[in-house]
Amino acid sequence: MDLKKLFGYEGKTVVITGSASGMSKAATELLLELGAEVYAIDINPIDLPVKKAYQADLSNKEEIDKVIADLPDKIDALFLCHGIAGFKGKELLVQKVNFYSQKYMTEKLLDRITDHGSVTYIASVGGFGWQQVYPKAVELINLKTWDEAMKWYEEHPKEIESSYVFAKQCLLSYVTYKCMSKEFINRRIRINAINPGDTTTGLTDDFNKSTSPTGNADEGAKMIENIFLKSWNGYAAEPKDMGYPMVVIGSDIFSYMSGQLIYIDYGLTSSWTSMALLNSNNKTIEEISHESNNN
Ligand SMILES: NC(=O)c1ccc[n+]([C@@H]2O[C@H](COP(=O)([O-])OP(=O)(O)OC[C@H]3O[C@@H](n4cnc5c(N)ncnc54)[C@H](O)[C@@H]3O)[C@@H](O)[C@H]2O)c1
Repeated sequence: MDLKKLFGYEGKTVVITGSASGMSKAATELLLELGAEVYAIDINPIDLPVKKAYQADLSNKEEIDKVIADLPDKIDALFLCHGIAGFKGKELLVQKVNFYSQKYMTEKLLDRITDHGSVTYIASVGGFGWQQVYPKAVELINLKTWDEAMKWYEEHPKEIESSYVFAKQCLLSYVTYKCMSKEFINRRIRINAINPGDTTTGLTDDFNKSTSPTGNADEGAKMIENIFLKSWNGYAAEPKDMGYPMVVIGSDIFSYMSGQLIYIDYGLTSSWTSMALLNSNNKTIEEISHESNNN
């Protein structure tokens, strides 16, 4: 069996964001290995032999529009992977980078995605519990323009207070809401997301700092370890542990899978689900994860 043929990326056009670093860089390397023609976008320089690299700030609508105008007319797979940590005072920026630009790019590029093509996002275990914000997220998703969305964010400061979590929850809501909508399903365009657990990447230091109430990286690292690793005596993943499965999900191998939110976390969130289902006290994820750490 020809493995490259099985993936189906040979000679195909792939657009991917966030390729300068981390999971997306690992994914881009594999896509190149599999013979894809890759158009990669990042705010930082991309040092990979892609067909074309764009340096653009994807929180900025004008910069996105400029890149979109130059991208190919036909795209077989789109991967939206760029992301930042959730610092206080940066709530709107986090929404733009981690969710809104991704929705905007998807919808602007949808006409160019081939029938049976794929769209795949990197969300996060941080979006676990997305069902709780679903109606609000759908309200935002249904707004027609970038400006209307920015106004919605301005009018909903409480929703975006937990900025990283809300943005990732919106992304997961988007996949759930859109997978069977006619613009995707009529053309058999698959839409999925991966939810990585703790992974050592270019974002690690920022995650550590933004998690600590005092901005102390060591304290934040300890807190992250307690939430994501302690209960299973676990270890942080490497970028390829996330980037490679994402490439598989966007490939022909997963030709019948859409609307899925794939948790790549060694089972941690499944254990949280199990605990939530077995206790009727409606505990928060923080309480459940704390409990699981003490077990
Ligand atoms: N590292 C983790 O533990 C973890 C866990 C769950 C989810 N994630 C998510 O994984 C995705 C990939 O992140 P990573 O961990 O590989 O980190 P990373 O920093 O190594 O990669 C993120 C990339 O996004 C780019 N980027 C950031 N802001 C941008 C902007 N405004 N415009 C264009 N590009 C921009 C960065 O330059 C970088 O190359 C992110 O969406 C992140 O939220 C990470």
